[in-house]
Amino acid sequence: MKIDLNLNAQSHSASELVLVAGYEKNDGDSKKLVNGLWPKEYQAAFNNLMNSKTFTGSTGSKFCFSLEDGTTVMAVGLGDKKKLTYEALRKEISTIYSSIKGSYSEAVLDLDGFKVKGNLEKTVYTISESIYLTDYSFDKYLSDTKENKLTKLVLSSKEKKNKTKKLEQSISKAQIVMSSVNFARDLVNEPPNVLNSETYAKIIEKDAKKIKGVKVKVLGKSQLQKENANLFLSVNAGSAYEPKLVHLTYTPSKVTSKTKHIALVGKGLTFDTGGYSLKPSGSMANMKFDMAGSATVYGAFRAIAESGAKAVVTCVLGMTDNAVNEKATMPDSIVKARNGKTVEILNTDAEGRLVLADCLDYTCDLKPDAIIDAATLTGACLVAVGSETCAVLGNNQKLINSLLKSANNTDEYMWQLPIIPEFHKDIKSPIADLKNIGGSRFGGTAKAAAFLENFIKDDIAWAHLDIAGIGDSQGHLPYCPKKGASGLVVRSLVDYIENA
Ligand code: BES
Ligand code: MG
Ligand code: ZN
Repeated sequence: MKIDLNLNAQSHSASELVLVAGYEKNDGDSKKLVNGLWPKEYQAAFNNLMNSKTFTGSTGSKFCFSLEDGTTVMAVGLGDKKKLTYEALRKEISTIYSSIKGSYSEAVLDLDGFKVKGNLEKTVYTISESIYLTDYSFDKYLSDTKENKLTKLVLSSKEKKNKTKKLEQSISKAQIVMSSVNFARDLVNEPPNVLNSETYAKIIEKDAKKIKGVKVKVLGKSQLQKENANLFLSVNAGSAYEPKLVHLTYTPSKVTSKTKHIALVGKGLTFDTGGYSLKPSGSMANMKFDMAGSATVYGAFRAIAESGAKAVVTCVLGMTDNAVNEKATMPDSIVKARNGKTVEILNTDAEGRLVLADCLDYTCDLKPDAIIDAATLTGACLVAVGSETCAVLGNNQKLINSLLKSANNTDEYMWQLPIIPEFHKDIKSPIADLKNIGGSRFGGTAKAAAFLENFIKDDIAWAHLDIAGIGDSQGHLPYCPKKGASGLVVRSLVDYIENA
C-alpha cells in the first residue's frame, strides 16, 4: 500500500484538495443542501457561485469550488444523513479516492461531516478500510504501471483532540487487516505457472514465520502418506508437484482454560483442470483461483495473529493442483479417507471436497472449539446464491448465526443453505461408504457440504463457507478490483474470531 493515512493536524490551505460532506434534505417539494459543518469561508465561497444551487447533496453527486488561497474544495453528496450506512460510506470514499488519486498528491478530509451514526472511531476505520482496499492493484507482471499521484491523505477533525489515540488505532487496525486482505488477493491472482503447491507452501511459511506467536508445520507427500490422507493424495496423484498441508498455529501471549481455540481450514487447489473428468476449456479458465479458500483463511489468520487476538487460532491449508497424467486418479476409483471411510470417486472434478475431507479430519484431532472451512467448492453455489454472496452451511446453528452476524458487521454478503438428511442419503454409494457427487445436479452446494460433514468428528461445531461465487470480483463493489481476486470474507472471519 502506497498511501499514507494520518491524523496530523494540518491547515486546509496547505493542501491541494479538501473533501467535505454535504447531505440532502427534503424541503417541501424541493431538495435542500445541508452543509452546516463546513467552515464559514467555505460556505461563503460556495454560495458566491451561481451554479452551486445545483448541488443538493444527493448521493454520489460532487461539486468542486475554489477558496481564495487556491485550495480546491470537493463537496461530496451523501444523501439523507439519517440513512447513511458504513457500506455507503465505504463505497463513496472508494469512488472518490479512485477519481482523485491521479490528479492530487495530497488531500485533507474533513472527518466530522462524514461521521456515520455519531461513531467517529468506526467512521475512521471504514474510511481507512475503503482506501486501503481500493489502493490495491495486481501489477507485478505489467511492464508499464500507472503511479498513484496521491500519497498522503489527512483525516482532520475538531473532535479529535481527546480521541487521537483511539482514532490512530482505528487507522492502524484497518491497515493490518486490509494488508492481509491484499496479501490474500495477491496469492489468488498469482498464475499457476508461478504458484504451485510447493511454492505456495514456501510463501506461506516464510510470511507466517515473521509473525509473533505463530508456529509453522508443513506436511509433504511422505507425511501425508503416514497420515493416511489418501483422499488428499488421490487428488494429487496426477500432479507434477508434491501435495502440501500447511498447519499454522497462533498462540496469544496469555492462555487460560477459557481461551477459545478456533480452527480455519482452506481449499488450496492451485489449479483445477478437473482431472480425468476434464473441464471444458471455457470452464477451466480462471481455475487458478481455486485456492481462494486457503488464501482467505490465511488472510484472516494473518490479520488476527498480527493484531494479537485473544483466541488460539489454527489454520490448515490443503495445497495441490488437480492435474492429469498417467497416474492421475481415474473415475470409479474407491479410496479410503484418513478417517477410515471409503469414497467412490465418480467425478475427479469434485476434488475440493476430497482434499478438505482429510484436512477436516486432521483438524478435528486438534480438538478445536470450532472449525470453519472456506472453499471455492461448487459451481452450483453461483446458481444458488449468485456470484456476489457467500454460502454458509454447517452442523451448528449457533456458529452459523455468529458468522452471519460477523458478515453483517463487516457488510459482506453471506447466506445460509440447508444440509437435510436427503442430501446425506444422496451421497451414499452402493459399493462404498460415500460417493463424491450426488445423484442429480440439484442442490450441489449443500450436497458437497453434506459430504464434508462426514469428516467432522466428536460433534465439533463446524461451518463451511462456499466462496465459489465471490472469490473473484464481480465489479459491483468499488473497493474491489473490477477483475481478479476480491479478498472478500477475510473481514467477516476476522470479526468472528475477534468476538469468539
Ligand atoms: N473448483 C470447482 C468449483 C467451481 C466451479 C468454482 C465453477 C467456481 C466456478 C470444483 O472443484 C468443481 O469442479 N466442482 C464441480 C463439482 C461437480 C463435479 C459435482 C462443479 O461445481 O461443477
Ligand atoms: Mg473441480
Ligand atoms: Zn475445484
